Order: sequence, then structure tokens, then C-alpha cells
Amino acid sequence: MQQPIEVGVLGATGMVGQHFVKFLQGHSWFDLKWAGASDRSAGKKYRDATAWRLEGSMPGAAADLNVEDCKPGNAPRLLFSAMDASVATEIERAFAEAGHIIVSNSRNHRMEPDVPLLVPEVNPDHLKLVPLQQRKRGWKGQIVTNPNCSTIVLTMALGALKPFGLRRVVVTTMQAISGAGYPGVASMDINANVIPFIGNEEEKMESETQKILGSLNSDHVAPHPVRVSAHCNRVAVVDGHTEAISIELDSKPSEQDLIDAWTQWRSAPQERDLPSAPKQPVIYMIDKDRPQPRRDVERERGMAVFTGRLRRCPAFDFKFLALGHNTIRGAAGAAVLNAELMVSEGLLD
Ligand SMILES: NC(=O)c1ccc[n+]([C@@H]2O[C@H](COP(=O)([O-])OP(=O)(O)OC[C@H]3O[C@@H](n4cnc5c(N)ncnc54)[C@H](OP(=O)(O)O)[C@@H]3O)[C@@H](O)[C@H]2O)c1
Repeated sequence: MQQPIEVGVLGATGMVGQHFVKFLQGHSWFDLKWAGASDRSAGKKYRDATAWRLEGSMPGAAADLNVEDCKPGNAPRLLFSAMDASVATEIERAFAEAGHIIVSNSRNHRMEPDVPLLVPEVNPDHLKLVPLQQRKRGWKGQIVTNPNCSTIVLTMALGALKPFGLRRVVVTTMQAISGAGYPGVASMDINANVIPFIGNEEEKMESETQKILGSLNSDHVAPHPVRVSAHCNRVAVVDGHTEAISIELDSKPSEQDLIDAWTQWRSAPQERDLPSAPKQPVIYMIDKDRPQPRRDVERERGMAVFTGRLRRCPAFDFKFLALGHNTIRGAAGAAVLNAELMVSEGLLD
């Protein structure tokens, strides 16, 4: 990469926006030059508009940016979106129409047939939807999305196992409170407690997983026929979604076959040595009591998924645990890796 690519963040002052700002600090390809937010923040310096809630101090270069309205104008061509879902549909569209490349973390466009719902290790070929999206909508720009945080963890764990033929999946999540944004769940509700409901999360996990694992036909993704049943719970963990997963497969691999599949799995981000790619996307942990969010979630810069506790399942074929960082691999880091894959595909040329 010769010249750094200038980038901006829509919704830069929010929780996910702050994760983008932090994740992009010192990035070898991308240079954060622009921050957009609501008219409550526009016109202020980023440091004044943002109540910084992440560990470590606000990156200095971002602190000095002037926050702007989320209207096409002088923003860089490549924009990450962390906008409130209630406004993301129209604003992202307006920017794409004006020629911007929107790499979005918001849910709004994920299930549209011509919009890639991308996990770079699992379905890099789905980026082929982009030229079709541009033709169909008459856009010079484009929208590419990343999935919901819990879906990313599940599809990374399942992606390596796809060659065994995925038939049925039951997943029970234990999701961190940081996934609910800030201030998120009231402390009186979550302390010493489990909340067995996260609005629309189960539906998103079920449908997004089928799209991500699905196969690209000429103008759409045919959903994978795997049947997914999700039970989603909020638990008193700060960062890291843990998922207990049971799977039924078409073929009859051994436990070692599954561990080898995770351990040896490498895909486009690793082959192209993308800056944010984990060296090994899925790491199988052999200790009986791992992975654990507090001990493992920050490893590999929060970009790998950890599996463990693989054993035979009396009801399905196998059961195991998966853990991933919900605000890094599940949000900002996911979108940045998506953009790196798009650059490596020539989609910004
Ligand atoms: N929290 C997570 O872990 C997580 C994980 C995955 C996905 N997501 C998704 O990511 C998105 C952001 O979530 P969040 O938790 O970061 O939300 P948030 O903290 O409420 O931040 C929302 C951002 O959107 C901006 N905004 C609100 N109204 C706007 C408007 N009319 N025009 C332009 N900008 C506007 C806000 O700017 P102001 O500061 O000026 O109000 C702020 O920068 C949501 O779509 C959410 O579903 C969140």
C-alpha cells in the first residue's frame, strides 16, 4: 500500500464509532480524517462532542477532528458506518448514491438481496454482489455490511466446518453487556443476573447465518439450508459473547477432524495478509474450562474466534463452545477487515 487511504466514520461519537476510532489508530492502510454524527455534535471538536468510554485515552488525531453533519459533501470516499439504526437506512443510501463506499455495521441493509453480508473468512465471494448492486441502483458508491456480533462468532466457528455439511444448529448465547451499547442494560437488571431476551437477536442470528453461509447465484445469495435455532441471553460479562453450540452434520467426521478443520482453516484475509486479519481465524483451546471471556477475549487483538469443549452430543452430532469479542470482531474490527478485503479486491480502484 503506497499512500494511506483517507477514511471517515459515520456515527463516530457513539459506542461503536469510538471502537472504530480506536481500532483505526495507527492502521497501516487507513487514515481517519473525518467524523460524522448528529446535529447535536456537528460543529464541535470530536473531543468535545464525545464522551469517551473506552479504555485508554482518546486518540489525539481524532480528538482534533471537527465533527460534521452526516450529509454527503466533503467526506472521504471510504466511510465506516456506526450510525444509530433509526437513521442509518436513508443516510447510508444517500452517501452510496453520492459515490461513497459504505462499510456498515448497522443492521439496516444487511438482508437486502444485492448487499453483501460479509465475514471475510467465510464468504469473500459475496463481494461479487457489489457491481450488481451498483448497476441495479445506479450508484457509483456501494454498501457492504457486517453481521450482528453474535452471528459473526457463530459463522466463524461454522465456516470451517461447512465442508462436513451443516444440517442443524442450536446455539445458546451468553452475550456481554457492551453489546447493548451505552449505558446499555441497567445495572439493577444485569448484576448477578441473566436476562433471557435480546430484542430481534434470535431472528437475526437465524437469518443472517443462512445468508452468510449461502451460495452466490448470479444475482443473489441462495440461503444455506442449515436450520438454525438461537436462544439469546444477556449475562453480566463486559466484553465477549460466549456461545454453546450443538450441530448435526451430513458426514460423520471424528472429533479430531473438526479440530483439524478449525486449526488449519485459512481464508482470503490470511492468504492476502490483510492488516487486521488474525493469523489463525479460529483457535481451538484444549483446556477443559476454556475459552473464557475474561481470560481469552482480548487475545489476537480481539479478531480471532476461540472454540473449545468439543464433545459428542447425544441429541445432535457434536457440541462445543465458541467465544468472540463482540465490539471488535463483532463490530468495528469486522468492518475494518471487510474494507481491507474490498481494497484487496480492487473495489476502491
Ligand atoms: N453496541 C454494540 O456493541 C453494537 C454491536 C453491533 C452493532 N451495533 C450497531 O451499531 C450502530 C451504533 O450502535 P451504538 O451502540 O454505537 O449507538 P450509539 O452509541 O447510540 O451511537 C449512535 C451514533 O449515531 C449518531 N446519530 C444518531 N442520530 C443521528 C442522526 N440523525 N444523524 C447522524 N448521526 C446520528 C450519534 O451521534 P450523536 O452522538 O451526535 O448523537 C452516534 O454517533 C447501531 O446500528 C447498532 O445496532 C452496535
